[in-house]
Amino acid sequence: MSIMDFIFQVPLLLIISLSLVTTTTRADPLYQICQNYGKYTTNSTYQTNLNNLLRSLSSNGPTTGFFTATQGNPPDQINGLVLCRGDTDVTACTSCLNNAVYDIAQLCPYQKSAIIWYDDCLLRYSNLRFFNSSDESHVFYMWNVKNMSDPTPFFKTLNGLMGSLVNRAVNDTSAKMFATGDVVVNGVQRLYGLVQCTRDLSRDLCGDCLRDTIGEIPTCCAGKIGGRVVGASCNIRDVGLSCPIHHRGVVESVGGGVDGEGLEGEVEVDLELDSGGLK
Ligand SMILES: *[C@@H]1O[C@H](CO)[C@@H](O)[C@H](O)[C@H]1NC(C)=O
Ligand SMILES: *[C@@H]1O[C@H](CO)[C@@H](O)[C@H](O)[C@H]1NC(C)=O
Ligand SMILES: *[C@@H]1O[C@H](CO)[C@@H](O)[C@H](O)[C@H]1NC(C)=O
Ligand SMILES: *[C@@H]1O[C@H](CO)[C@@H](O)[C@H](O)[C@H]1NC(C)=O
Repeated sequence: MSIMDFIFQVPLLLIISLSLVTTTTRADPLYQICQNYGKYTTNSTYQTNLNNLLRSLSSNGPTTGFFTATQGNPPDQINGLVLCRGDTDVTACTSCLNNAVYDIAQLCPYQKSAIIWYDDCLLRYSNLRFFNSSDESHVFYMWNVKNMSDPTPFFKTLNGLMGSLVNRAVNDTSAKMFATGDVVVNGVQRLYGLVQCTRDLSRDLCGDCLRDTIGEIPTCCAGKIGGRVVGASCNIRDVGLSCPIHHRGVVESVGGGVDGEGLEGEVEVDLELDSGGLK
């Protein structure tokens, strides 16, 4: 191999390893909604306020995993909110919010109002005030494509599990309005659940939002082994047989299985987005 061959190979290797790094660390959005509340223009006051707002949200959000801010004065005032999944650490929250700030500008260019969701976080900004009220109108569903062989025995257990998670989330002493849990069904299978509200909601609003959201499970995910109902003010995730609570950790084997298949390794792979489920 000549020295020239060597020199030419180095950048190639660098490019390959860099692209590997970006594809393994960068999470795609689950969904985004570009709300139709008008557009701002380049170099406008609104754009400046938005940039300042996004900077403030992404730098202050990771400390507790929740942050709200308001920038500017009407008519260019913007309200923003970020929420990280209740069990993310500062690093994961920071990385998710940085992605969100970048992606939302690409996916909802010049929109005065938008919402974007990831596995690990939610980012929302708007020219309208949306704090302290429960928004149940922006919701999407995701479900595991695998069917349960017999869903009936799971429904009662699921309702019990989700009910207790709601109580824990609204009474959460850490004020994170977040709870996860699981319960054994049929002796071998484990049923999981996660609930979370944005922390600007009162306890009552959080409870109402979660109960309404849980009420959508049959619409979302009837007969499926797992699913999510994700809204702007509250969400339920990792519901079902397929989803371990610690989604980034090792997927635990829960034994049993559905239709003879093991449950390992199915965390996100089979989740499909139903844009038709958007209300
Ligand atoms: C926006 O402002 C920058 C910096 O002042 C300027 O270079 C650019 O031409 C402006 N763009 C528009 C569309 O006004
Ligand atoms: C699940 O059940 C539905 C309705 O019975 C059927 O249309 C679908 O093909 C099934 N999906 C799989 C992955 O077996
Ligand atoms: C949690 O709060 C609800 C009302 O919001 C109450 O009914 C329930 O008993 C509380 N649970 C616990 C464990 O404190
Ligand atoms: C409304 O939301 C803001 C921002 O989250 C918060 O500071 C304020 O205390 C809330 N007000 C009420 C009445 O809950």
